[in-house]
Amino acid sequence: MPAVTIAEAVLQAAARLAASDTPRLDAELLLAHSLQKTRTYLLTWPERALTAAQYADFNELVTRRAQGEPVAHLTGHREFWSLPLLVNDSTLIPRPDTEVLVEQALALNLPEHARVLDLGTGTGAIALALKSERPGWVVEATDQSAAAVALAQANARQLELSVRVWQSSWFDAVVDINSYDLIVSNPPYIAADDVHLQQGDVRFEPLSALVADAGGLSDLRNIIEAAPAYLFDGGYLMLEHGWQQGEAVRELLAQNGYQQVHTWRDYGNLDRISQGLYRKPNSGEGGEKCHE
Ligand SMILES: C[S@@+](CC[C@H](N)C(=O)[O-])C[C@H]1O[C@@H](n2cnc3c(N)ncnc32)[C@H](O)[C@@H]1O
Repeated sequence: MPAVTIAEAVLQAAARLAASDTPRLDAELLLAHSLQKTRTYLLTWPERALTAAQYADFNELVTRRAQGEPVAHLTGHREFWSLPLLVNDSTLIPRPDTEVLVEQALALNLPEHARVLDLGTGTGAIALALKSERPGWVVEATDQSAAAVALAQANARQLELSVRVWQSSWFDAVVDINSYDLIVSNPPYIAADDVHLQQGDVRFEPLSALVADAGGLSDLRNIIEAAPAYLFDGGYLMLEHGWQQGEAVRELLAQNGYQQVHTWRDYGNLDRISQGLYRKPNSGEGGEKCHE
């Protein structure tokens, strides 16, 4: 059999992956991974022939992708905020819409040495994106899952970004009260009976990263209620949530005394990120202020 070229291999695989939303992209990412090259290499050398071993390796990945496995799990990588992150099945594969949270956090007028906490950091996506843009910020991150903590630590190491990551169920192992200029989180927020849990990549992600009680609101509520004790006077809480949860999250923020409550929309124009600013009731009597 004549050797298969890069261009032919991509075309064949894209046809086998027709059920994916992005068949050609998936095929290119998997072939680039098999060959240990970039996608640019594939476009530059379409007539290069694959060895039999490369072709077999690639076809096995395409078969697994056709059976539903996420491309990021097959390659072990996903790009977030232009950072190449290691991913695995211990936590969520970072999503593009979460970059809206990063954009809005960067748009806050925070001091040069702001202290920032990312709860439920997963791969470390949000924390590492913030640290990469604001080297002066002291960024810390936690996750309940020991495997996710190890993954975020590995990402911080490989990207040479100084972010401390430790294991904690929300604030349980966060010791510094009145300390943070900004707390961010993309917690689990999908209701247990949501039909989307049976579709696409989420079938391969752990429920511990996806599902929350009370119709998906229980973790958001826990964080909103507990965060004021850990924020400086005038500190911000910024949360990702489901597109139908904007009103409920704004209500929870207002009920818990946050001010300047606002929701930002994602790239699909859906409610996605809500924030509030917290002023300590007794701030005139020693409540600590943000870093100057
Ligand atoms: C939706 S994922 C978000 C991951 C990452 N921040 C991102 O945006 O890609 C939610 C994360 O929260 C973590 N998590 C779930 N319950 C938690 C809890 N009680 N305390 C801390 N983290 C928790 C999960 O392990 C998971 O990594």
